[in-house]
Amino acid sequence: MSEPLILTQVRGEAALKVGVITLHRPKQLNALNDALMDQLGAALLAFDADESIGCMVITGSEKAFAAGADISAMAKWTYMEVYKSDFITRNWETLKRVRKPVIAAVSGFALGGGCELAMMCDIIIAAETAKFGQPEIKLGIIPGAGGTQRLPRAVGKAKAMDLSLTGRMMDAAEAERAGLVSRVVPADKLLDEAFAAADAICSYSLPSLIAAKECVNRAYEAPLNEGLLFERRAFHALFATEDQKEGMEAFLAKRPAAFKHR
Ligand code: HXC
Repeated sequence: MSEPLILTQVRGEAALKVGVITLHRPKQLNALNDALMDQLGAALLAFDADESIGCMVITGSEKAFAAGADISAMAKWTYMEVYKSDFITRNWETLKRVRKPVIAAVSGFALGGGCELAMMCDIIIAAETAKFGQPEIKLGIIPGAGGTQRLPRAVGKAKAMDLSLTGRMMDAAEAERAGLVSRVVPADKLLDEAFAAADAICSYSLPSLIAAKECVNRAYEAPLNEGLLFERRAFHALFATEDQKEGMEAFLAKRPAAFKHR
């Protein structure tokens, strides 16, 4: 059994629980190597398949969410090695297969692959100490896990080019202004805030959460009319669920909804 490079925990008071994954290579600032990405992917898929889990939180340490892919592992790789082993696709894209919401709770450095990992999550909550960047240019490479594509979609071309070409870091306040993160909170409140958001998510109906996530993600991938049609179909389909009846009846009866599918 390989050394654990992530810690997992299940928490929460609601009917559905929160699956928490803490990246844990503290000495290397959570540099993301293959073993860690394999373990992260396995944990995400296990939580996604677990019917008692409604939402996931990925976090790191106070100093670093993750300082990027592991440079010491990559330093000697050749083109044929990265090409034949399908580096990145082989274990970085597991997050794309996760249907339940995933929150990144980011404190400290989120650089290179660390920033890309955060951007693959559905919500980024940042501590005031968070620093985001795509410094790959300093290493003679470019972002390889979606940074050149997701960053401009999140913050626009101006800042995406600035970060990618100069390698500079963006602090939490700038990241929030630019639209990369959903919220910025004091560092000592980061996990409380992320868990509160996760608990709120866990109190809702899972089919509607999955539909909302799929539809928002469609906004990145489809022309407006296709996205609108996709949303309309998902919206109509939710009227086939017991939870739509329950949610609306509960509102009208002025009582909390007791969703069945959560
Ligand atoms: C391997 C890393 C690392 C990384 C830090 N470390 N980042 N090891 N890969 N990405 C190690 C350091 O070598 C050091 O090990 C220890 O962690 C502490 O780091 P320091 O540099 O001493 O800390 P500090 O001075 O506070 O500086 C923090 C830092 C700096 C600014 C984050 O470590 C840094 O610039 N790291 C690299 C950031 C980066 O370039 N990321 C992009 C990677 S490429 P020792 O043994 O000396 O204590 C990438 C490509 C993605 O992500 C492609 C898709 C997968």
